[in-house]
Amino acid sequence: LPVTVFPTANSASISVARRIADIIKSKSDGEKTVLGLATGATPVKVYAELVRLHREEGLSFKNVITFNLDEYYPMKPLAAQSYVAFMKENLFDHVDIEWKNINIPDGTLDADYLQAYCYEYEQKITRLGGLDLQILGIGRTGHIGFNEPGSAPNSGTRLVTLDDLTRRDASHDFGGKENVPVKAITMGIGTIFKAKEIILMAWSQKKASIIKKAVEGEISSDVPATYLQLSDNVEFILDEGAASSLT
Ligand code: F6R
Repeated sequence: LPVTVFPTANSASISVARRIADIIKSKSDGEKTVLGLATGATPVKVYAELVRLHREEGLSFKNVITFNLDEYYPMKPLAAQSYVAFMKENLFDHVDIEWKNINIPDGTLDADYLQAYCYEYEQKITRLGGLDLQILGIGRTGHIGFNEPGSAPNSGTRLVTLDDLTRRDASHDFGGKENVPVKAITMGIGTIFKAKEIILMAWSQKKASIIKKAVEGEISSDVPATYLQLSDNVEFILDEGAASSLT
């Protein structure tokens, strides 16, 4: 499993942003780039560098279509903790992407309609020719997207129940664990696997033990990120802290 270690999260993030920019620039006139995006603390500096590339170096998102990995359920898009709000604040409000090209799982849907909606989310990615690149963080449970322990390797976009540790880790954003939604909509492991390229990023010592399990541990649904060991198109990009337990 290819692992690249950078001295700092900042230098690593700049390198990931450049790779995204290179994919966008490699497309011929009008050809779309389809990106799979993540939220959370990990990709914030990648998005900041993409915003800088847009402002200072003319990188355009006019032909970029995005699919976010996940959203809490239920969740109103205008709520401060929504992943819609996160993406607007960190990326979408600062670049020239068109709103119609942005896809984030809809946390407002009726439960009855969710299965059809999730299937359509998946189909839409397929119709566009698949994801050129999926970026990922990793949760302390070993989740990618919100594919918590127990997720199947061929899972698709679906409604899931969040792990207790994941809700505890999110409690700061919600002013207490009891306010963190119990469920989320997430792309599946199978959805992520279909991307042409996958980059998993992790920063700091706090992620060192889960990174060791993900990279060196036995492949198991107990640590969903271990499934990435089976992909030929994945790269782990770490800072020295996150890499510090690797042998
Ligand atoms: C978010 C997502 C999650 C996070 C993970 C790490 O869209 O899919 O898997 O990447 O929970 O979160 P941070 O980056 O906040 O440590």
